[in-house]
Amino acid sequence: MRKKIIVGNWKMNFTTKEALNFISVIKDKISCDGIDVAVCPSYVSINDVKKELEGYNIKIGAQNVHYKEKGTHTGEISIEMLQEIGVDYIIIGHSERRQEFNETDDIINKKAKVVLAANLIPIMCVGENKEEREENIHKEKIELQVKMALDGIDTEKLKNVVIAYEPIWAINTAPATKEIAEEMISHIRDVIFKTKGSEVSNKIRIQYGGSTNSSNTKEFLQMPNIDGLLVGGASLKEDFIEMINIALKTQKEN
Ligand code: PGA
Repeated sequence: MRKKIIVGNWKMNFTTKEALNFISVIKDKISCDGIDVAVCPSYVSINDVKKELEGYNIKIGAQNVHYKEKGTHTGEISIEMLQEIGVDYIIIGHSERRQEFNETDDIINKKAKVVLAANLIPIMCVGENKEEREENIHKEKIELQVKMALDGIDTEKLKNVVIAYEPIWAINTAPATKEIAEEMISHIRDVIFKTKGSEVSNKIRIQYGGSTNSSNTKEFLQMPNIDGLLVGGASLKEDFIEMINIALKTQKEN
């Protein structure tokens, strides 16, 4: 059975002081027994949050990485820097980065390779926008994003990848229905099955993301193909604790 994975994407929220306050409140209220839980602070807070979480099972992720090893890339962060600081996960290809910083599928593929080569886990985001859904090209769009992101990555490494299906129209607005999320995530699994084989498609974990909170966590996590959640806004609140408790229960019930 695939292990549920709940990841908080804090985006450009929380100063280090705020992050530490929040973590000190939630860390003793969270049990990660049998599931994976991580938070992704801003780069400047990662180190302090990591120290605050010493001895706890909550893992740390970064929200981005550059695909080049080092050099003249002002404002960017390399994989070696993140390795040194000790992150476990790296979000790549978030729709906000695709939209605001013109990240392409090719760049996302390069980032995935760099993250996997460092033995870290990429959380690779894919998702269609409202217009693509209205034009009924959302399935093709996702298929292309998944194929391009995973291109050239060997099967053994692929089993460690986490994919997050995040329809852009559902981020920070109103969530997709559980049926839509399940349909799209099973489509992603099918694309992986056809291109990479059954072992990978059975093992790879696929999250849903977009306006999740404790009142919809259970319905998403009960769907057969949904292995976790990438949580934005609700991961900045104590509601995140309740979401993790629900994930724990769902994992045990399955
Ligand atoms: P949201 O964000 O939960 O605030 O909609 C999800 C995400 O963008 O990862």
